[in-house]
Amino acid sequence: MSETNKEYLWWQKGIVYQIYPRSYQDSNGDGVGDLKGILQRLDYLEWLGVEAIWISPIFPSPMADFGYDISDYTGIHPLFGSMDDFDDVLREVHRRGIKLLLDLVPNHSSDQHPWFQESRSSKDSPKRDWYIWHDALEDGSPPNNWLAMFGGTAWEWDENTQQYYYHAFLKEQPDLNWRNPEVQQAMLDVMRFWLDKGVDGFRVDVMWHMIKDVQLRDNPINLNFNPKEDVTYNRLSPVYSTDQPEIHDIVRMMRALTDEYQERVIIGEIYLPVHQLVAYYGQNGKGAHLPFNFQLISLPWDPLKIATSIDEYEGALPEGGWPNWVLGNHDNSRIASKVGLDQARVAATLLLTLRGTPTLYYGDEIGMRDVPIPPDKVQDPQGLNMPELDVSRDPERTPMQWDESPNAGFSEAEPWLPLPKNYSRVNVERQRKDEHSMLLHYRKLISLRRKEPALHVGTYKPVFSNKQIIAYLRESDNRRFLIVLNLSHRSGCFLPKGDPLRGEVVLGTEGEREGSRIEHTIEMGGDEAIIVLLDS
Ligand code: GLC
Repeated sequence: MSETNKEYLWWQKGIVYQIYPRSYQDSNGDGVGDLKGILQRLDYLEWLGVEAIWISPIFPSPMADFGYDISDYTGIHPLFGSMDDFDDVLREVHRRGIKLLLDLVPNHSSDQHPWFQESRSSKDSPKRDWYIWHDALEDGSPPNNWLAMFGGTAWEWDENTQQYYYHAFLKEQPDLNWRNPEVQQAMLDVMRFWLDKGVDGFRVDVMWHMIKDVQLRDNPINLNFNPKEDVTYNRLSPVYSTDQPEIHDIVRMMRALTDEYQERVIIGEIYLPVHQLVAYYGQNGKGAHLPFNFQLISLPWDPLKIATSIDEYEGALPEGGWPNWVLGNHDNSRIASKVGLDQARVAATLLLTLRGTPTLYYGDEIGMRDVPIPPDKVQDPQGLNMPELDVSRDPERTPMQWDESPNAGFSEAEPWLPLPKNYSRVNVERQRKDEHSMLLHYRKLISLRRKEPALHVGTYKPVFSNKQIIAYLRESDNRRFLIVLNLSHRSGCFLPKGDPLRGEVVLGTEGEREGSRIEHTIEMGGDEAIIVLLDS
């Protein structure tokens, strides 16, 4: 069957755009973004051409981890608005033919959630077993050596009931016990609540953490630990606290529920090596639709490493498993800071021409960079808990830069995180008028990708890679595109082996090159990327 005749679903063909709601658009002048703000920016998202938006948590929360500590899974935090506001956003998003994904945080709740309040009230509480409680060892120390992602031990002593509880993140984020069928049911009910409202799916937080070793065995030492650079969590290899075989039963359960609805999607947040990651597609493809593939975030910006990892990933995908790629998110340094602005255009070209669903982090489309946050302004608990390691995630969570007006058009009040000094130059309004801007480069890439089946559903074939250049082909129904990316600042050339690849440059980081022909040797400027429509 030809690629175009096959049925592809929206989450395979389109682009996912992540909104960090605190920082997208403030509508009520409190310096924090909200749902009505998102509503005001839907025209922009439609213009940009995204297929779906994923909104990071908007639920009631004490905000110990900025919403990833939920105290009511089926409500809306007043900071973000009301349920009516949410319904408005959902309706308006759908009216534009865009899909809406929510963040589901099933691994842990807030310690303020009534479930945990009940659970911690007594050892005999009917909800005691909803969380992971354990006696101290004889000397009073925690049940095992597991560490919290945000520093220190993962066990918190509860004076009242004389037991420890487990938290993979902050002590304000106790882990739910997913071996308990009541917990499973409660969270499936949460999913059902939002699916019934018409939400198109979920990005599932820390999916690989959800089940822990039943014997709670000690994690072994991580032989690659580097105390100067690594967070303390990396001292151990989390082989017993994460990625347990039984997780796949849970994912299958979530998938079965979403399959009762039409065309909904589950995207799993999973930081694991490729061969472990692809197991999350599940047996017979009945797991997550898209286990997030973070290689472009995790790997150094090295063309040989990246080219190898693309092939390793393509080769590891199970039959029917749909690939996906991510360049940035609210937990990692922005791409423009990691590789520089010029290279960020090459990165955009890579993201939007690889085979598989791309996820785009808000602000990357205008080349926003990490914003320096003075030590007394740091808000992220990861940054506050480990100040010596410089691991705060605030720099990549700063307000969207819309225009040159005060506070970049984000808010009438001082924003919750600072704006960079150059926002009057780096903003959406200005870039919309500049045909050589990052924003218009993104928009052209998105529009070409949407128009050309070869780019959104076509096959992928590696052509060439060396220490500067990566080249590959995308093809569908005899329309063939050659993508050539120079991941270095130096110019370089390559001569494709075998049949000559002739064609016309249809899009490039240097707009001037568009319309020119490729005949033989391909010359690439530093930081240059081109997309060539090959002669048929
Ligand atoms: C995920 C989120 C991150 C959060 C953590 C704990 O990794 O992306 O922001 O801190 O889970 O919920």
